[in-house]
Amino acid sequence: MANSLRTTTTSLLRKHPNVFTLGYVKASSWFADVPMGPPDAILGVTEAFKRDTNPKKINLGVGAYRDDNGKPFVLPSVTSAERRLMEKSLDKEYAPISGTAEFCKLAINLALGDNSVNLNNQNNATVQAISGTGALRVGGAFLNAFWSGNKEIYLPTPTWGNHTPIFKHSGLKVNSYRYYEPKTCGFDFKGCLEDINKIPEKSIILLHACAHNPTGVDPNAEQWAELSGLIKKKKLYPYFDMAYQGFASGDTVKDAQAVRLFEKDGHQFCLAQSFAKNMGLYGERAGAFSVIASSKEEADRVLSQIKILIRPMYSNPPIHGARIVSEILSDKQLKEAWLKDVKLMADRIISVRETLKQNLIKLGSSRPWNHITDQIGMFCYTGMNAQNVERLIKEFSVYLTKDGRISMAGVTSKNVDYLAHAMHEVTK
Ligand SMILES: Cc1ncc(COP(=O)(O)O)c(C=O)c1O
Repeated sequence: MANSLRTTTTSLLRKHPNVFTLGYVKASSWFADVPMGPPDAILGVTEAFKRDTNPKKINLGVGAYRDDNGKPFVLPSVTSAERRLMEKSLDKEYAPISGTAEFCKLAINLALGDNSVNLNNQNNATVQAISGTGALRVGGAFLNAFWSGNKEIYLPTPTWGNHTPIFKHSGLKVNSYRYYEPKTCGFDFKGCLEDINKIPEKSIILLHACAHNPTGVDPNAEQWAELSGLIKKKKLYPYFDMAYQGFASGDTVKDAQAVRLFEKDGHQFCLAQSFAKNMGLYGERAGAFSVIASSKEEADRVLSQIKILIRPMYSNPPIHGARIVSEILSDKQLKEAWLKDVKLMADRIISVRETLKQNLIKLGSSRPWNHITDQIGMFCYTGMNAQNVERLIKEFSVYLTKDGRISMAGVTSKNVDYLAHAMHEVTK
C-alpha cells in the first residue's frame, strides 16, 4: 500500500514538475505559463510620478480634470444632485438591463437635441452603459453580431489607446485611417479624405465627436461637412465616440455639432457617450450607447438584441451615477448649474493653454506653439519627441506619455511657468 502510494507520487512528480509536496500532494499550478503583462502606459506614468520626491513635480499623464490647485473636482451641480437623491431615500433595486428609460432618453437627448427628427420618431435604441468604455464595448459586440457589412472598423491614427483592444475584443477587425499631421501638429485633412476614400464600402468608421484624444485636433465645421458627404458616398457606417461633450468648448451644443450634422445629413449611425468628464463622474461609470435606426420598429428590434448581449456581460448597469445624470438633466435649474460647471472646467483649460503658449513665446522659444491653443479639450499633443519627453521626466520631474501628449487638466496657474521653462529647455 505504502509502496504503491510512493510510486504514484513519484510518477505524478515526474509528469508535473510544478507539483509541490508538503507531506501531501498539492494540486499543480494551472497558471504556471501565464506571462507577466506590461503595465498600463498611462497608469505607469502616475506610478513613476508618485515615487518622485521633487516638490516641483507635475503629473500630465492623468486624463481627469483637476482644479487650479491640482485637486480632483466634484462639480457643485453633482453635489446638489446627490443631496436631492439622499433626500429621496431611494432603494437599491436592480436597474433594467438597459438602464432606466428616463436616463436613456435624457442622455441621447443631450447628444441630439430637442429638434432631433430621429428622437421625435423614436428611431433610437439607447441603453445605459458602463461609462464610455462600456458603451463602446457594447456597441462593438452589437456590430460584431449584427452588422450586415464588413466586420471591420477604421480608427483614426492616432486614437485613444483603448479603442483597438475594445474593438478587437469585440471580434471586429481593426484598421486605420490618417488623421494627424505631425508637421503641423494639426488635422491631416487631405490624408484623412484619401484614406477614407479607400475604405471598402459598408465598413465601420470610428469618429471622435469632439476633443479628439490624444491629439486635441478636431475637424472644423466645413471639414466635418465634407467628411459627412464622403462617408455617405462611400456607404460607411459612422460610429461616434463622444466622451467630452461640453468639455471641449464649454458648450454642449457646439460640441455635438458633428453628430447633429451627420443626423441632419441623413446618416444612420451609432454613438457612445460618457458622463465621466463632463459631469466629473469618472468612477461612477455612467454612459450610454445608442443606435440611430431607420424606424422605431427597427430600433425596437435592435434594442431587444442589445439587451440580450448585455445580460450575460454584466446583467444590468450601476444605478448611482445614472441617477445623478438623470437628476441633473431633468431639472431646469440643476441643468443650468451643470452647464456653468462644464464651462468653468473648459474655460480653465482654454485659459491655461493660452498662458502656456504665451510663456513659451516669452522665453524665446523658436518653435511654433500655436497648436497648443488650436487644439481643444483635455489633451495637447505637443509635438515633443521621445527624447524631449525623457528629459522632461528625468531633469524636470514633468510626467507625460511617451507620445508627447500632455493632459492640460494637470496644468495650473501655479505650475504653468515651470512647465513652460521645462518645455523650452528640452526643445531648444
Ligand atoms: C476618446 C475616449 N473615448 C472613451 C473614453 C471612455 O472613458 P470612460 O470609460 O471613463 O467613460 C475616453 C476616456 O478617456 C476617451 O478619451
